[in-house]
Amino acid sequence: MNLPRTFLIDTDTASDDAVALLMALGAEYIRLAAITTVAGNVSLEQATRNALYTVELCGADVPVYPGAAKPLTRPLQDATWFHGRDGLGDHGFQPRRRTPEPGHAVDAIIETIRANPGLTLVTLGPLTNIAMALLREPGIIPHVGRTVVMGGNPCCEGNVTPAAEFNIWVDPEAASIVLHSGLKVELIGWQLCRGQAVLGPAEIEQVLSWNSPRSRFAIESNSTARQALMTQTGEDGICLPDPVAMAIALDPGIGIVWGDHYVDVETHSELTRGMTVVDRLNVAGDPRNREVWSSLLSSPPNARVCWVIDVRRWKEALFSFLR
Ligand code: BDR
Ligand code: CA
Repeated sequence: MNLPRTFLIDTDTASDDAVALLMALGAEYIRLAAITTVAGNVSLEQATRNALYTVELCGADVPVYPGAAKPLTRPLQDATWFHGRDGLGDHGFQPRRRTPEPGHAVDAIIETIRANPGLTLVTLGPLTNIAMALLREPGIIPHVGRTVVMGGNPCCEGNVTPAAEFNIWVDPEAASIVLHSGLKVELIGWQLCRGQAVLGPAEIEQVLSWNSPRSRFAIESNSTARQALMTQTGEDGICLPDPVAMAIALDPGIGIVWGDHYVDVETHSELTRGMTVVDRLNVAGDPRNREVWSSLLSSPPNARVCWVIDVRRWKEALFSFLR
């Protein structure tokens, strides 16, 4: 008999994070060992409250550990303009019973990985907690099975600056530490979640018609995010980057084109801060480029970058958890 895969989720819980948590909490074939929270979309306290509310809504008893209240070296710049002041569209979603665990997320990450070798780590926010855990205890690295990171915008425009995607931009130093740590990162970029991958108006109506606590929460919590996406990109719908990453964590086949690449993060320039620079053509491996690039692109591939997803299968996966 196959044992259920163990998951650990790190999240700056706002509206799309919450839908990703609904999916993981609804997936009976995995065991969610812990949720750790980090400042990002909203403050650490708010992210923790939102994670607790989501766990409570699902009737689950997964522990929630609060972690870093700000990026490693920079002040926090949140995304409340996108997700609402409370990160969940300001509808008053509040946990009634659940409270956070007393421990710190960084300790919980280290202990959970030690106790569950081979686990799947899914990150849905800035990588501050993960970087802190790796710096404190690098010995955990070989014990992580998969590391699925929602972050970056390989070879595309960003959603917070022209160059960068939010999770990486907020704490680029942390992202750089994680990418250079030796973890086998699967990078799920923001660009995969746009266009056909966005939940369109008819699909939103369809989800609402199921009229379950989960389906209503998934749509209502994203009400501000729907308006913000229209302002940002002109697309009418709900963009769900964290649920796309979760769908791939649960079913890797949803990613249909992948490449192993060297990926780095810009930490010095303000113009391109947080840009995920992907050596898509593996030019660093070309002897003609080695002289020019070797000091910058000196490493072998450090990430598996997802380039294309199966949109139909992603939406079927999402719907299976909301019906
Ligand atoms: C990412 O940033 C946040 O706004 C979302 O929760 C997601 O993790 C998308 O860029
Ligand atoms: Ca997130």
